[in-house]
Amino acid sequence: MSATPRSTALVTGASSGIGASYAKRPAARGHDLILVARRADRLEKLASELTSAFGVTVRTVIADLSSDAGVAQVADIPASDNSIDMLVNNAGVSCLGATMDIAPEAIDTLLAVNIIALTRLSCAALGGFLARNRGTIVNIGSVPAFKALPSASVYSGTKAYVLLYTRGLQAELKDSAVRVQAVLPAGVATEIYDGTILPLDQIPAELVMDVDALVDAAPAGLDRGEDVTLPSVSDLDLWTRFDDAQEALFAASQTGTPAPRYGV
Ligand SMILES: NC(=O)c1ccc[n+]([C@@H]2O[C@H](COP(=O)([O-])OP(=O)(O)OC[C@H]3O[C@@H](n4cnc5c(N)ncnc54)[C@H](OP(=O)(O)O)[C@@H]3O)[C@@H](O)[C@H]2O)c1
Repeated sequence: MSATPRSTALVTGASSGIGASYAKRPAARGHDLILVARRADRLEKLASELTSAFGVTVRTVIADLSSDAGVAQVADIPASDNSIDMLVNNAGVSCLGATMDIAPEAIDTLLAVNIIALTRLSCAALGGFLARNRGTIVNIGSVPAFKALPSASVYSGTKAYVLLYTRGLQAELKDSAVRVQAVLPAGVATEIYDGTILPLDQIPAELVMDVDALVDAAPAGLDRGEDVTLPSVSDLDLWTRFDDAQEALFAASQTGTPAPRYGV
């Protein structure tokens, strides 16, 4: 009798918030884990809790995903571990405030973690996933992906990237069994608001989702076959109409001539 093949989920940003909560789901189903973040103490504590609770193997990787070296360190992992069949691209940062008030270095970090790391890690995982024709990438976006917030212009732009990049990958991979899901939460009670111009206690509590509720909904969306999961949105027809409108706008742009209103 052959042993059940190992299955491992690699979760970035697992030291707090959504990533720490998300890591418990695959662990509860018996999957091993690779947890990535900068704060070693937080990762070690979570790893030991998950090992005790579920008997799974948990490896921690301390890496700064705003740096080329940190991204390369994590991107190397899927090449040498073919048990990885899930990548949760969750690590992210936000910068709230007027764009001109944000330090250039903070903008660079935002772009590096939210866009570059997510892209490079998904490419790194896809090699093995496609070769084995199985695997799932979960990209954590955010609702400013479709409605830029003036207090978070750069952050909104990074999350629009996550959504469009994910949509592109889904189209590329439509003939394979590899899944890519975009999860677009609205407000979730995590440390991401700490020290910002919008601390959690200034947001109406009814607009903020509990982190465990969010992380219950996100895999449920995947199980339902959703490509884009909007955990706090009840009327999914809104998404369908938005998606259809984008398709129609794109189709309408394929004319090769300036529109009559320009008088050209
Ligand atoms: N909370 C919300 O309202 C909300 C809403 C929509 C989407 N999201 C998205 O959800 C994701 C998780 O955020 P969260 O709300 O859970 O916030 P969080 O509690 O602050 O968690 C962010 C995670 O990302 C990691 N991280 C940040 N910078 C990193 C870096 N340079 N290198 C490696 N890891 C880094 C952090 O770990 P270390 O600091 O230990 O490195 C931490 O584990 C983000 O992509 C965020 O944009 C959040």
